[in-house]
Amino acid sequence: SPTTDEQWRGCSMEEIHRGLNEFELDHLPAVRPSETHTVLYHCPIREPDNVPPRPLRAHHKWDAIHVRLPCSSKSQYPVTAEDGSSTIEARWGMIEKALLQPITNSKELQAAILSYNTKYEGQWNFHSLHRLFEDDLDESESRVFFEDLLPRIIRLALRLPELVQAPIPLLKQGQNHSVTLTQQQVSCLLANAFLCTFPRRNTMKKRSEYSTFPDINFNRLFQSGGKAVIEKIKCICHYFRRVCPTERDSSNVPTGVVTFARRSLEPAELPNWGECKAPLGVTPLHITSDGTIEDQGFGLLQVDFANKFLGGGVLGGGCVQEEIRFVICPELLLSKLFTECLRPTEALLMVGAERFSDYSGYASTFEWAGNHEDCIPRDSSRRRQTHIVAIDALHFMQSQHQYREEQIKRELNKAYVGLQHTLITPAPGVASGNWGCGAFGGDPRLKALLQLMVCTVTQRPLVYFTFGDAQLRDEVHRMHTFLLEHNVCVKDLWNLLTSYQSQNMPGNELYNFIYGCISNTLKRSPKTKLTSPK
Ligand code: AR6
Repeated sequence: SPTTDEQWRGCSMEEIHRGLNEFELDHLPAVRPSETHTVLYHCPIREPDNVPPRPLRAHHKWDAIHVRLPCSSKSQYPVTAEDGSSTIEARWGMIEKALLQPITNSKELQAAILSYNTKYEGQWNFHSLHRLFEDDLDESESRVFFEDLLPRIIRLALRLPELVQAPIPLLKQGQNHSVTLTQQQVSCLLANAFLCTFPRRNTMKKRSEYSTFPDINFNRLFQSGGKAVIEKIKCICHYFRRVCPTERDSSNVPTGVVTFARRSLEPAELPNWGECKAPLGVTPLHITSDGTIEDQGFGLLQVDFANKFLGGGVLGGGCVQEEIRFVICPELLLSKLFTECLRPTEALLMVGAERFSDYSGYASTFEWAGNHEDCIPRDSSRRRQTHIVAIDALHFMQSQHQYREEQIKRELNKAYVGLQHTLITPAPGVASGNWGCGAFGGDPRLKALLQLMVCTVTQRPLVYFTFGDAQLRDEVHRMHTFLLEHNVCVKDLWNLLTSYQSQNMPGNELYNFIYGCISNTLKRSPKTKLTSPK
């Protein structure tokens, strides 16, 4: 157990890792193309470790189930000449022409981007980009961006026809499908997103083709307000500095791969929470007020406190857990290109993303804090052994709604989809925390128990980061110990949690309610099993 000055309670990290290699995730099977897994490079990889895998070649597709690439010959755009006559031009040609002109400041960059997005002239104004280059950076830093980095980003973006030669499937609702791309392909696609080249992805109109997909072009980021936006742009520029080759040297190009796997479960595949007899106390819990999921969660399945539209406000003003993770590991941003918004029993697993930046602060105090060298080893398929699962909690406007049975069940099922596993035994632990309890207004005391229930059912140890909250740490730890001592199982807790709402308890009394019910039941009949007070 911890010494008194330590910030954690419960079992040690060694127990969480259960004596296994720290990188338990190494047990994952290798990437292999199949009907449910699209691999966009030649697999198995024959290139030496310091060379990116070779892109796969296949017929391009321009349809409703694949990403519409800006370089497709089918991507066309209306152009109005000065005399008012109108023609249809190949958009990629317009993009090349605009980006190969000299661009020496952010106003010219905005003009270049607008020249192939003419519909948004008068609507897009990249305030934050201008502020970054005109006020925030000093003159020489700005000059380096326009003389060196931007030309590299543009060169990388324009290599799209060569680097992505096979269609990228959309990960649509209801599908269990995975996509694996090389880090180089990801960087090229993100360079295109930075330059706002993706067709049909700008309109916010309801029922437009991509209205159920997240945004991917970066225009909204460039024009959103707030200091954090500028810091997020710095993180992204730093990523490009790291991954875009220079004219003479391509030794910095990352050579790994990244997998995005959509998981979707049918109702019949979900647990019946009211019947599960697994005792909660057997689930190892390490709970700490120190550290973060990304810094201390290596070797564990790390939870992204997601929005159902992946990335949430990362390409806007948002700057909390998910947005921060996406800008320090920008490869995660690519999920926004092809992942349709998540349904209640769906999750997205992202394997292999590299971290490029450090940060300080949070939300409005967030700042880019320089380079991060990612030391996480790679698996046999060249993925960093960083597994991140995006699960979106419910957004509670009215706090008491979260104790309703329907809502409790929804959150349990959502977490179950994310944490459920079929491949590895023993399953790696989970690194999570106040999921749904910041921007989404949930009660961490409830969410901690729900996540504990899911970890019990999926047989995963839980590492819980309370993000500085020592009182929460102690309360959850005390509850976990109590549940263990009283041999409370998942169904007992389900019964208690779903009956709490009807008690109309004042304020935040959930734990007292649980203590009271369990102690009373035992007093009345110490030998009988716990039952619902309903
Ligand atoms: N590690 C551990 N805990 C953290 C970390 C971290 N790195 N960062 C924050 N926390 P929030 P939500 C704690 O608000 O409520 C985004 O816009 C901290 O206590 O990000 O699920 C998404 O895109 C914080 O208050 O998650 C969604 O739209 C709490 O976790 C929406 O927010 C919750 O973090 C999701 O909101």
